[in-house]
Amino acid sequence: NTETVAHILGKLDVLPMYKQRDKFSHKGTFGHGLIIGGSYGKIGAVQLASRAVLAAGAGLVTAYVPTCGYVPLQSAFPEAMVITDADDKHISAINFEITPTVIGLGVGIGTDKKTGDALEAFLKTNTTPLVLDADGLNIISKNKNLLVHLPADTILTPHPKELERLIGVWEDDFDKLEKTKAFAEKYKILVLIKGANSIAVYQNKLYINSTGNPGLATGGTGDVLTGVITGLLAQGYSALEATCFGMYLHGKSADLAVETKGYQSLIASDVITYLADAYLDLF
Ligand code: APR
Ligand code: MG
Repeated sequence: NTETVAHILGKLDVLPMYKQRDKFSHKGTFGHGLIIGGSYGKIGAVQLASRAVLAAGAGLVTAYVPTCGYVPLQSAFPEAMVITDADDKHISAINFEITPTVIGLGVGIGTDKKTGDALEAFLKTNTTPLVLDADGLNIISKNKNLLVHLPADTILTPHPKELERLIGVWEDDFDKLEKTKAFAEKYKILVLIKGANSIAVYQNKLYINSTGNPGLATGGTGDVLTGVITGLLAQGYSALEATCFGMYLHGKSADLAVETKGYQSLIASDVITYLADAYLDLF
């Protein structure tokens, strides 16, 4: 498609998106992110994503996890509120009485049958803006009828394997982008293809990230990205802004972190810590 426009995102592209804080702002001004995910042995994914929601600037975060996630989250992460599913190890029904600004769904959630059923019931009624990642994507790939229920401008953040399950195999990079564009257009969603140079695909346009490095090739960094994007949406950034600014800040944080952590020792938690420096580096 010759009409496709590709933008390379550098500091000068994301800087105009940045929202300053008003002196009289309060935590309600910056929204409430809800992270739904986790399963026995993968509660850390929710912890990483929830921390990133707050580190990106959201006012409040709640984690919705199976019961086994309650103690680890409440003890290691005092800033978060926690809602628990009735099931100990897997999410089995998604019910909550809060009204989040945005929901980040799927990190560490697993593909248990009851979780798939819970997700189906939830997606058929949900209208809250959504970021979908990890096994949340894999569950949808097995039940593609659910795609029509995604709110417009839902953000999907697949790594290459997760993308393949969503759109099928591709022949080459050009074919991959064409198939992703058609998929994003069909469902009116945004697809962030993760990799060494992450690319956001939205309304027939491509946005190529310029930050990030191989230090990010370590477990949990994708969960952090989900949290950052969720946290930006909570603050009122549009889906496109949250995705572009989010992947820029996430990569920049890693670029600043390697200066002291090195490529080998950088871990996902560092990407949360160095988000502060990524923000400060804008000015
Ligand atoms: N250069 C720059 N960025 C990179 C590089 C690289 N060489 N390698 C990875 N990244 C970035 C990606 O762009 C992405 O933002 O690191 C992040 C990795 O995200 P994921 O692939 O989702 O990895 P992870 O967080 O460990 O996923 C956790 O969820 O998606 C499932 O199967 C996955 O079980 C795993 C879990
Ligand atoms: Mg992942």
